[in-house]
Amino acid sequence: MSETKKNVKLRSAEWFGTQDKNGFMYRSWMKNQGIPDHEFQGKPIIGICNTWSELTPCNAHFRKLAEHVKKGIIEAGGWPVEFPVFSNGESNLRPTAMLTRNLASMDVEESIRGNPMDAVVLLVGCDKTTPALLMGAASCDIPAIVVTGGPMLNGKLNGKSIGSGTAVWQLHEQVKAGEITMHDFLAAEAGHSRSAGTCNTMGTASTMACMAEALGTSLPHNAAIPAVDARRYVLAHMSGMRIVDMVWEDLRLSKILTREAFENAIRVNAAIGGSTNAVIHLKAIAGRIGVDLELEDWTRVGRGTPTVVDLLPSGRFLMEEFYYAGGLPGVLRRLGENGLLPNKDALTVNGKTIWENNQDAPIYDEEVIRPIDNPLIKDGGICILRGNLAPRGAVLKPSAASPHLMQHRGRAIVFEDFDHYKTRILDPDLDVDENCVLVMKNCGPKGYPGMAEVGNMGLPPKLLAKGIKDMVRISDARMSGTAYGTVVLHVAPEAMAGGPLGIVKDGDIIALDCAGGRLDVEISDEEMRQRLADRAETQVKGAKSGYQQLYIDHVLQADEGCDFDFLVGMRGSAVPKHSH
Ligand code: FES
Repeated sequence: MSETKKNVKLRSAEWFGTQDKNGFMYRSWMKNQGIPDHEFQGKPIIGICNTWSELTPCNAHFRKLAEHVKKGIIEAGGWPVEFPVFSNGESNLRPTAMLTRNLASMDVEESIRGNPMDAVVLLVGCDKTTPALLMGAASCDIPAIVVTGGPMLNGKLNGKSIGSGTAVWQLHEQVKAGEITMHDFLAAEAGHSRSAGTCNTMGTASTMACMAEALGTSLPHNAAIPAVDARRYVLAHMSGMRIVDMVWEDLRLSKILTREAFENAIRVNAAIGGSTNAVIHLKAIAGRIGVDLELEDWTRVGRGTPTVVDLLPSGRFLMEEFYYAGGLPGVLRRLGENGLLPNKDALTVNGKTIWENNQDAPIYDEEVIRPIDNPLIKDGGICILRGNLAPRGAVLKPSAASPHLMQHRGRAIVFEDFDHYKTRILDPDLDVDENCVLVMKNCGPKGYPGMAEVGNMGLPPKLLAKGIKDMVRISDARMSGTAYGTVVLHVAPEAMAGGPLGIVKDGDIIALDCAGGRLDVEISDEEMRQRLADRAETQVKGAKSGYQQLYIDHVLQADEGCDFDFLVGMRGSAVPKHSH
């Protein structure tokens, strides 16, 4: 029985490679699936980690995707074993799919470590599935390749394209402002999501797909090929072929997920106008593989990068057009040609560097992937803020914000939590004007367990009726990648963890200074100390047991990636001892 090729000892041989009682047991039970004996004779066993679920509509086509991965694995001389993991569907899961990102990552990690596989293909799509699978696989550090499900075709309404999520926010505000009827609003549903795939805007799913490609964990073009395009299935097939060779090359995630790769991803996030959620997810993935990423890396590497991809919610187009325009390879080439790809030598899953893969990538449409000297946003990236209101940081996405509000002082209108916001914002007597700053507390990782995407608070109806489109909003929550506005998010520490956000009162003056990277409440240090000392202890609403309690007890703050304290780090893929 051959266990090696090019001197690589197969991990799966620990299960299937012995002629004894244990080998008998491992092989015999697997043979009940009709697997012939020769498949156990030294072939790499490749896990296909599948987040398929009909409750995760963005990943509902993954059984077909997995079949194409399997064809590639078999063609290259491996044997595929598909397994399910917890599927974080953004649209259905309550209270928020972020609550279970870490749970899914544990599922992935332990499924990989405890089972006979030499490498793994990660089938990801909807927002949290990408970081969850990369986090779990990174903690194991075996060869892994990402295959994304791909974005939906363009949404369509009344003959025009509409973008996933972004259209919902826009249409809902139009209803509240009396510009369209509720009938028109509901009629948009079917055209909004008209094919398999993930949100077609540059929301969190598309952003994380681009991050996976920029990190080098997928083959080129993985991020943007539409879900229903036959080329998506070709890419799945090719990824299946490639992962088998990655076993023989011992090309583990730790060789790809280097600091250099994360710096490339941060730069790419700025160039694509990516989601603020990437700040949290990249930190969490980096933490699993031992790369120390800091919020300041987003300033140092990302800020000032021109946003060249003209996609909603920052720009005009959708992922379908992005692929036709050249996709992420076009962006990487554009960056590299202009001295803006920080680490051209970063290794990728196909064994080539990121620059070797993308240096000749064509760009077919310069309206979608714009020239560096005619960008969508000159000064893109994520703005990191610090100050007495956010000692451990906060974020704002300039490309989704209103330029006139990025330097702003205003009177705080304070909501104690999301429920308080929902009722108070509708109060016709609320003393609010467009210069006020809406402040919401207790929506951070612990306060609203999972850190819901409620940071882009809708504006007071009476201001919407006046035609006001944007106001400064501040919270410890997250925001959907499909949303927009001058919205300060991820304030850390969060109010529930004792952060100063919790002591802001109605009428306090808040100063936002994006250029200077500051977020302050204009009270004296003494007043701040007194208010923090006087502050009554608040409790998280809801259950005090089960997974939610585990989450509250162990989740780290936003600046640390919201991972669990006990999950940070790489635990490797040493084969656990057998129990029989
Ligand atoms: Fe799944 Fe947007 S809801 S990608």
